[in-house]
Amino acid sequence: MTKLPRIVAAVSMGILLLVGFGRGEDPAAKLRSDQDGLALTPPMGWYPWNEFGQEPQNEKLIKETVEALVRSGMKEAGYTYIGPDEGICFSRNASGKLTPNLARYPSGLRGLGDYVHQQGLKYALYTDAGTHTCSKAMPGTKGHEFEDMKAFAEWRADYLKVDWCNTTGQTPETAYPKLRDAQLAAGRPIVFSLCSWGEGQPWKWAASVGHLWRTTADICGPGKASWTAALKNVEANEKLSASAGPGHWNDPDMMITGMSGLSEAQNRSLFSLWCMMASPLMAGNDLRSMTESTIKILTNREAIGINQDPLGIQGRIVRKDGAAEIWAGKRLFDGSQAVLVFNPGEAPAQVQVTPGDAGFEESASLYARDLWRHQTSGPRAGSIRVTVAPKDLALLRISKTSSFPLPPIIVADSYRVVFHASGNSAQKLTQAITVKNNGSSELPLWTVSPGLPAWLSVTVTPSGKTQTFSTKVSVAGLGRGHYHAVVKADNREPISGLPMSALYYDVDLEVSGAAGGPANR
Ligand code: GLA
Repeated sequence: MTKLPRIVAAVSMGILLLVGFGRGEDPAAKLRSDQDGLALTPPMGWYPWNEFGQEPQNEKLIKETVEALVRSGMKEAGYTYIGPDEGICFSRNASGKLTPNLARYPSGLRGLGDYVHQQGLKYALYTDAGTHTCSKAMPGTKGHEFEDMKAFAEWRADYLKVDWCNTTGQTPETAYPKLRDAQLAAGRPIVFSLCSWGEGQPWKWAASVGHLWRTTADICGPGKASWTAALKNVEANEKLSASAGPGHWNDPDMMITGMSGLSEAQNRSLFSLWCMMASPLMAGNDLRSMTESTIKILTNREAIGINQDPLGIQGRIVRKDGAAEIWAGKRLFDGSQAVLVFNPGEAPAQVQVTPGDAGFEESASLYARDLWRHQTSGPRAGSIRVTVAPKDLALLRISKTSSFPLPPIIVADSYRVVFHASGNSAQKLTQAITVKNNGSSELPLWTVSPGLPAWLSVTVTPSGKTQTFSTKVSVAGLGRGHYHAVVKADNREPISGLPMSALYYDVDLEVSGAAGGPANR
């Protein structure tokens, strides 16, 4: 296949997905991500609940986990969103305002967010659509939607999980859209994760509301990973493949890969299934004490490449052979196809994967790449014989060509730039952040969106696989005070031509000693 038809095929697939989702006359059917460009590939990150429950969620744990995420190579592999779950983060004061729990988070929730941003990661927070969170230890948003979403924006959250406990008399179909409106009014780009465990069938309507929605009950109680429960979530989530796509994902819950009680093969299997289902890759294990084996699994870029594919197709079971499941239907941005053979049974399985299973014509001559062994075989005509041990799987990428490009994996050295200036002189200050592409395809220059305030300008320059955002402020004419702006940039995945998730970062400017009056913007 030449490059051009691939691009056309990929773009038309994008259009099909959108049309299939019912966009058109009904403005309510528009995707939320059409407006904000967020989560066009499944969000990747870490949340503490599966391993820790409420204890000991606190600032120390989050910061240690940020360090572990960076040290282990997970950041370089694309994991980005991190923060407390139901970690007793805030209460509501007498005047109705959310106030951070400084005993657990001494830097405050904005301070913790600044720390996360400075490490080149994005900040995730948690709340509930009802009167209280599940344990009742934190207030929910009911009746306070607009002021609470303003607080999350002030704390600079980039991702918000909204739970569904204590919601008597409410329905997901009305409560979550109200929160969406409140988020839009608060004005900060935010990934909205609906957590009604499938209640209200969000896959039918929530693509215009948020970016991902839980499809199932909790995958486990805190610290109690269960292979059987995880496979139940897989079974339910698999049936919903038609509802997922760029900016709108089915979420079978945070992962349990790397928690105690699972074998290496089980860890590899669950991670591969999450990749194949285009599920959000939110790790749920203790990153500070991971084994080498877990690190290797969670950072397998070839598997992550399947998950982060820009076409955003959720794979599904196309056929069963004895106990073995053949998962396919996941065409990738370069025209190749992902195929997974899962053997949940007790005996080894031998399966013939036909070109037709993989989405090619039966006469096709194909290369197969094993994404765990990192080996390519072929080209060969006819079936590919796959042998899989019990409770294990094979994850393959099948192509007519021998090249297996990885989609872009975007990693920034920081998502926050801070300036201190004296307004008495007309200073010009510059700082840079660098943004790398750890995938294997070349990336065009990022385009900065218009609308920056007059005191701020940004230019982007390339150098190999890195691009530098030079952020310049000009203090002339500014009064004393604090200024804040969000820089947003866009890019397109070069092979498919599809938009990638928007990149944005915060700029803070403090002007002191100016002759002019105080400002606070
Ligand atoms: C619900 C969610 C979990 C977790 C807990 C916190 O059960 O589904 O993921 O956030 O609440 O109490």
